[in-house]
Amino acid sequence: MTLIALQGGKPVRTSLLPYASQLIDDADIEKVIDVLRSPLITTGAMVQKFEAAIARYVGVEHAVALSSGTAALHAAMFAIGIQSGDEVIVPAITFVASANCIVYQGGRPVFADVDADTLLINPDSVERLITTKTRAIIAVDYAGQACDYESLRRIARHYHLHLISDASHALGGSYKNGRIGSLADLTTFSFHPVKSITTGEGGMVTTRNALFAKYIKQFRHHGINATSAQREKQGSWDYDMQFLGFNYRITDFQCALGLQQLTKLPQWLDRRHSIAAYYNRSFSNLKCVTPLAVLEEDRRTHAYHLYVIKFAMQQLDCTRHELFSAFRAEGIGVNVHYKPVYLHSYYRDALTVKPGHCPTAEHVYNNMMSLPLFPGMAQQDVEDVVSVVKKITKYYAIT
Ligand SMILES: Cc1ncc(COP(=O)(O)O)c(C=O)c1O
Repeated sequence: MTLIALQGGKPVRTSLLPYASQLIDDADIEKVIDVLRSPLITTGAMVQKFEAAIARYVGVEHAVALSSGTAALHAAMFAIGIQSGDEVIVPAITFVASANCIVYQGGRPVFADVDADTLLINPDSVERLITTKTRAIIAVDYAGQACDYESLRRIARHYHLHLISDASHALGGSYKNGRIGSLADLTTFSFHPVKSITTGEGGMVTTRNALFAKYIKQFRHHGINATSAQREKQGSWDYDMQFLGFNYRITDFQCALGLQQLTKLPQWLDRRHSIAAYYNRSFSNLKCVTPLAVLEEDRRTHAYHLYVIKFAMQQLDCTRHELFSAFRAEGIGVNVHYKPVYLHSYYRDALTVKPGHCPTAEHVYNNMMSLPLFPGMAQQDVEDVVSVVKKITKYYAIT
């Protein structure tokens, strides 16, 4: 049997393949430089162009760009009026920002369990958690796959709750006839470099609701009722801060990058799909590896931000930590998305949620791993990942 690199064998790769990486070409850089050479480098026309392009792409009337996906989530919580004493239901498996945004507004995150096959929020679990204090549900389109929006919308309507979609993973995905971004009251995106398109740091809120869009624009500018461009036009220096907002503005050069990146999204999504299909075929007869389920119903299109596999740990003579180290020793930069949010020490201390609260989330968390998936991967990179999965699982297999 081939000795794995962790035990002194020859690694499959000599350099580490990351789990995700941005793709930025000369044309992107030119567009950024054009803005940097122009008189207006923030809160100008590029921001509005990028907003309009994203709104058109997802099929809604309004998009507001912000400095990060986290700022977008915070703005969404502000727009729906989350305040002290309010509860918002959020899946246990997500990035901490999906829950932190509730706390920023003084609200309390209530963690719902996820479906074991998809890691998407489980609508039955959501319904069981609703109390008189519940104000909203945050659905996370984990890995790039749409949640069960029909059930979530039905629950939201029935209990008079707002439905927010944290689609940080899912720009380009769809559900039935709607693009992700048009399926909830407010949807948030992230443009961090690991995401489907990037602005360096950046985020967006999309909505059909003009009032939400207006509040969010004001929220990203300290709660002030006029931007400097608007004051310039009106020939006035005066402005009024009408509520407490933040500086969550994004620059024009970031939006120039975002606009350029958006033109490449369709071809990048195709590449993500073909890498995922290659992985699926390659792992189909490995007994100890199961990729997350891809739902066929409701005409979903996956955005494949992440490719996550679950290991049958009872068939392997190692811990998940050893598996993780073994992949990295072979030059494959795997990752784990995510530790259940309530297990972080901040939430353990701030909330009375105990380990065991979401049994499915905790069980899957201990068995899963994200493999490299990004459009810039060469075919050799993809084949390296597959051969490392086979090499390591064979090495540790209990025979
Ligand atoms: C599910 C989810 N929500 C929110 C965020 C926050 O986005 P950002 O890093 O742009 O603030 C991320 C980013 O990693 C994410 O994955």
